[in-house]
Amino acid sequence: MIRAGADEVVYPIRLGSEQVAKFIGKQYGIDLEDSTNLAPPNLLGYNLKLVKYFDSKNAQLKNIIDRYNAISVVALKRKSGITIENPSLDTLVERDDSVILLVKEDKKAITSPTSFEKIVWSDDYSVGIQSIDEEHRGLILLINRFGDALFVSKSKKEVAKAFEQLLDYTVNHFRNEEELMEKYNYPEIKQHIQDHHRLTQEVLELNKDKQYVFSDNIIEFLKSWLINHILEVDRRLGEFLVKKGIHER
Ligand SMILES: [Fe+2]
Repeated sequence: MIRAGADEVVYPIRLGSEQVAKFIGKQYGIDLEDSTNLAPPNLLGYNLKLVKYFDSKNAQLKNIIDRYNAISVVALKRKSGITIENPSLDTLVERDDSVILLVKEDKKAITSPTSFEKIVWSDDYSVGIQSIDEEHRGLILLINRFGDALFVSKSKKEVAKAFEQLLDYTVNHFRNEEELMEKYNYPEIKQHIQDHHRLTQEVLELNKDKQYVFSDNIIEFLKSWLINHILEVDRRLGEFLVKKGIHER
């Protein structure tokens, strides 16, 4: 628990950083290792929210506070692993840093089943190759299922299962795309595989502590993670295959 006022206390909720979560947990007698539920009840409407920053453009902490309507910043965890407690508000936040915010949320927003925005397939995402599009739809489905487990059912077991499914499917899908690239001598194969490695690494990083505890904006992160890859890198592969007259695997 953290003192948020003279007689107000808050519990950590959905902390995504093992280091910081354990630090806070230890200080206030909460053992995250034993936690079977990802969202301990909030008290008096105060919560800690962990936000992973994934924009390529740096932002000041005061912008993050505004964006999430937070009260203050508890800590900034740099990508390098360094944690800065009570950082000044003009500190710059860089891509892949994490910020722990103190927020006052209304109860409905926390318990509502629509507290995360599902990704909806759009024809704009089509790369023109049916087998790739089908797998991309599958990935979107699994990201949404993961969001359901994380924000609606909030069961650690379901979150763990959904995350592992997403990871497995991603690895298989990338392998399928790479086989296609090899088969048809795709000239950009090297960069494309590098991109797959980076994306896989980013997803593995999300759960490197095996706690299945994720940041509040995880769906936003996965959405940009997947959609940007589809729209830029996979689209170029699709155009290449279509030009070669290949429409199916
Ligand atoms: Fe790809």
